Amino acid sequence: MTSTTATPRKRLFIRTWGCQMNVYDSARMADVLAPIGYAPAETPEGADMVILNTCHIREKATEKLFSELGRLREAKQARRAEGGEMVLAVAGCVAQAEGAEITARAPWVDIVLGPQTYHKLPEMVARASRAAGAVIETDFPAEDKFDHLPDAAAPQGVTAFLTVQEGCDKFCSFCVVPYTRGAEFSRPVAGVLAEARRLVAAGAREVTLLGQNVNAYHGEGPEGRSWGLGRLLRALAEIPGLARLRYTTSHPRDVDDDLIAAHRDLPQLMPFLHLPVQSGSDRVLQAMNRGHTAADFLRIVDRLREARPDLALSSDFIAGHPGETAADFEQTMDLVRRVGFAQAFSFKYSARPGTPAAGAPFQVAEADKDARLQALQALLREQQDAFNRSRVGMTFPVLFTGPGRHPGQVAGRSPWLQPVHLTGPLSLIGTEAPVTVLAAHPNSLSGLLAAGDAPYDVQPEEEPAPA
Ligand code: SAH
Ligand code: SF4
Ligand code: F3S
Repeated sequence: MTSTTATPRKRLFIRTWGCQMNVYDSARMADVLAPIGYAPAETPEGADMVILNTCHIREKATEKLFSELGRLREAKQARRAEGGEMVLAVAGCVAQAEGAEITARAPWVDIVLGPQTYHKLPEMVARASRAAGAVIETDFPAEDKFDHLPDAAAPQGVTAFLTVQEGCDKFCSFCVVPYTRGAEFSRPVAGVLAEARRLVAAGAREVTLLGQNVNAYHGEGPEGRSWGLGRLLRALAEIPGLARLRYTTSHPRDVDDDLIAAHRDLPQLMPFLHLPVQSGSDRVLQAMNRGHTAADFLRIVDRLREARPDLALSSDFIAGHPGETAADFEQTMDLVRRVGFAQAFSFKYSARPGTPAAGAPFQVAEADKDARLQALQALLREQQDAFNRSRVGMTFPVLFTGPGRHPGQVAGRSPWLQPVHLTGPLSLIGTEAPVTVLAAHPNSLSGLLAAGDAPYDVQPEEEPAPA
């Protein structure tokens, strides 16, 4: 047999939870399975292989996984009754954390694999069909994975993700990521640049660099020395056709001078940054082991805004970390008022087994956590609405990514990651065009294509850049 098209098509269903890293990983798992005949399916029913790509950050993540596995057991039996087989795999962070427990409690699971072993999936599938028991692969050989994964096969579209860094050594008190994703690892520069060029050749105009601590990036450069994220962004900005760059998620501790300078120097680097702060109280930040104070965060924000005046910020917050008093929480509210966020994610603290905070004294009462989260979310909502409204009347480039929800509409995203929709031709997809915003909605903007070459008037007080 010489061509993969001769292989009978097997149906592969992947369900993905969690962060963008998992979304990226799911795409790469589909890529490694394509050469052995697996093509994507829309539903788990009747699939030849089902992968659950799990997230451990979710509350009761393990329990939710087991109830899902209970349902899939029936789908698997139904498949067998039809004379077929369904290979069932659990991937991602719950697999990494709970490997052996999964196969003990759900022996109908065939494969348990951690995030660093996805390149071995075809081999695991082969072993699973031979073996009586489950195949478990939850080692941490991070270097191997990127060397052995095939080049991304399925084009991701106008906007694409590119993992440059994985893992975390920071051990925040509340977080499971250092246990599930292992130690920090950065991909070498050459591999990142090559993947970015392939993405652009396949139609991507915007690339978002991914990492659990993306700005801790320290990949090996072509000359053997290590490059920081700022330098990597400068090299990526030279790729013709790559119109927009973003990166996520960053840690305040790893925002260095060169990264701030990149925000000043690179027009491709979009003026929107997700920078989690978690709390505005130094006491709580210390208990969280974040390694910075509220004042440090505010200083970084000031410097970023000096470098890129139209920069908008997003963040993550936790309400009710163990030891958080009402006064601590007020300091979080103060920090939010001082910064003014364009968008944010906020969570009620919830204990993750095995993390230091889970066993800490002074757990906050559930009712207090609820009340604080509500107050915080109301403030953040107000700020998001105000930010969206502040775009009305502005003209700025929108990158069109696909058809809109209604016939005749196209949709795209603003420089600040806001969804934008308008009436216009589908031929806009894949291009950037200036749009004048007419209305702000809770989570999106709508507008009109600006006539001709309308200038980018986000900072009307400044001279427009020469064309
Ligand atoms: N690496 C990123 C965050 C990864 S987890 C960072 O350092 O900021 C994504 C978000 O989930 C965190 O920022 C935090 O706000 C939230 N989170 C993580 N563990 C949590 C827990 N135990 N309870 C509540 N929220 C949590
Ligand atoms: Fe988790 Fe903290 Fe690492 Fe972020 S920096 S992944 S919150 S341990
Ligand atoms: Fe969840 Fe793992 Fe991402 S725990 S948030 S899927 S790193």
